[in-house]
Amino acid sequence: MFFIEVIFCNYVTNLTKKIDKINRKLRITNDGSHTVYFSDLNEHYHSKKGAISESEYVFIKNGFSQQNKKHVKILEIGMGTGLNILLTFLHSDKNSKIYYHALEPYPLDESLQKKLNYCQLLDVDEEFLKKIHVSAWDKKIYLNKNFIIYKEKTKIENFMSKEFFDLIYFDAFAPSKQKNIWDFKIIKYCYDILNKDGIIVTYSSSGDFKRNLKKIGFEISVLKGALGKREMIRAKKI
Ligand SMILES: C[S@@+](CC[C@H](N)C(=O)[O-])C[C@H]1O[C@@H](n2cnc3c(N)ncnc32)[C@H](O)[C@@H]1O
Repeated sequence: MFFIEVIFCNYVTNLTKKIDKINRKLRITNDGSHTVYFSDLNEHYHSKKGAISESEYVFIKNGFSQQNKKHVKILEIGMGTGLNILLTFLHSDKNSKIYYHALEPYPLDESLQKKLNYCQLLDVDEEFLKKIHVSAWDKKIYLNKNFIIYKEKTKIENFMSKEFFDLIYFDAFAPSKQKNIWDFKIIKYCYDILNKDGIIVTYSSSGDFKRNLKKIGFEISVLKGALGKREMIRAKKI
């Protein structure tokens, strides 16, 4: 019986790997950094004009750098390649403490993770991104004494937070591809788990998303978008 179970588990693992390889591929964006192409949705994880450039602009310049707390709790919706963790770590001040909770229901296959060129481009030891990916789920992992990550393999729809956050990186697939994630219920939940003055930041500027943010009580800033995109959104819980 045990052997049949082992054979079955190996079969499922191999099948998942095969599907992963077929559905997701690495692509080089215009700034030389990788993104992932997900063929099921015909969607890239980042702007084709530059993955690192877009993430730096949207999530670091207009998100992380906009708050001035010494202890910051961050939630990322859609961890994907781990690029936002890496960039946040590189921009964090030695004196601040970061707790970074990352949600990802569909982790990247190891063969893709290993090829990501972010460490090379950002002059970071390759082991660092590897540590982010291979570290255990549902457990606090110290990247250094001041920077904790906690990865949870779950969808935002099913997430039951035990924390309150100062910053939310809303990095789901575009509203045209994953409409349910951008709806009232999820945004209201984000509002409920943010601290006062907490912010939510995203590359998107969807009209419905803006209307829902306003209805819930966020103060909205419509900012210039990344890499030629007209707009992006930052919203504050007041
Ligand atoms: C636009 S990509 C973001 C990529 C990521 N932030 C990065 O820098 O690589 C969207 C990510 O959301 C994840 N995702 C898909 N459905 C989700 C859901 N229901 N809840 C949370 N994340 C989801 C995808 O697997 C993917 O990794």
